[in-house]
Amino acid sequence: MNNEIRLFSPATVANVACGFDVLGYCLDAIGDEMVVRKTAEKGIRITKIEGYDLPYEAEKNVAGVSALAMYEALQPDCGFEIEIYKNIKPGSGIGSSSASAAGSVYGMNELLGKPLDKTKLTYYAMKGEALASQCEHADNLAPAIFGGFTLVKSACPLHVLELPTPPDIFATLIHPQIEIKTSESRAILPKQIPLQHAITQWANVGSLVHALHTNNYDLLKEALIDVVIEPHRKQLIPHFDAVKLAANNAGALGCAISGSGPSIFALSKSEATAKAVESAMQEVYSKTDIEFETYVSKINTQGIKTL
Ligand code: HSE
Repeated sequence: MNNEIRLFSPATVANVACGFDVLGYCLDAIGDEMVVRKTAEKGIRITKIEGYDLPYEAEKNVAGVSALAMYEALQPDCGFEIEIYKNIKPGSGIGSSSASAAGSVYGMNELLGKPLDKTKLTYYAMKGEALASQCEHADNLAPAIFGGFTLVKSACPLHVLELPTPPDIFATLIHPQIEIKTSESRAILPKQIPLQHAITQWANVGSLVHALHTNNYDLLKEALIDVVIEPHRKQLIPHFDAVKLAANNAGALGCAISGSGPSIFALSKSEATAKAVESAMQEVYSKTDIEFETYVSKINTQGIKTL
């Protein structure tokens, strides 16, 4: 059995407009690389971090916290070293902490001969994710670990549903280079919502799931609407309404905040449309003084992969 694994841990889009804290999908065009290595010395050590300035102490790093949770439960007769090559900027809204939290447990599980299934891996990864967002949710972790579109039916006990990915669907992302902390963008949300908004939202979630199962792009377009969270959070993202309008005018099926922002995602029915949407988004932000990155990505149906 190998003593070392190098892996790609993908970025993800949580919420997918109407599915706050439950829906997510996995990206292919951006992700972190990690190396996990078995050591004779027991314990979890983070030995290298490149890309962003993050803590080396395992108990202060999301990859270390998820690794420690799994390590303490399994009590293996070895230790692990973790190297993190970060491409996903922390606070970007495309699952930076989830990629780290998922990568360490995935790598350890592979090196131990896969004792855990994907649900258990997600469970331990949630312990790391909680360090970043101050609450345990799995809507970024589940797509990173399972791939494709996922629905977190329940976080406790954890129950993840894998949803189908329509064949022609592509994602476009714009990441304005500002940081929004998940904890802060959760703090501004209301504790209660009007019944009419709840009715619209759960009708959209159900319709979105049905659209994915039936490759119904027209229904997908009608369902990619968030009447509960977006009205509160969009004020944190400069030019959100202009980007959304431009994306929809360029042919996107829908456009919404990616996770807790500041990234904004759109879904489109072809790669050509996804690229036209990218240009439309770029045009909006290039008129401002905010730096930004954009990506066009197919949906990654595999999730984390060994390199
Ligand atoms: N569902 C979470 C949120 C994802 O929107 O706050 C961010 O981690």
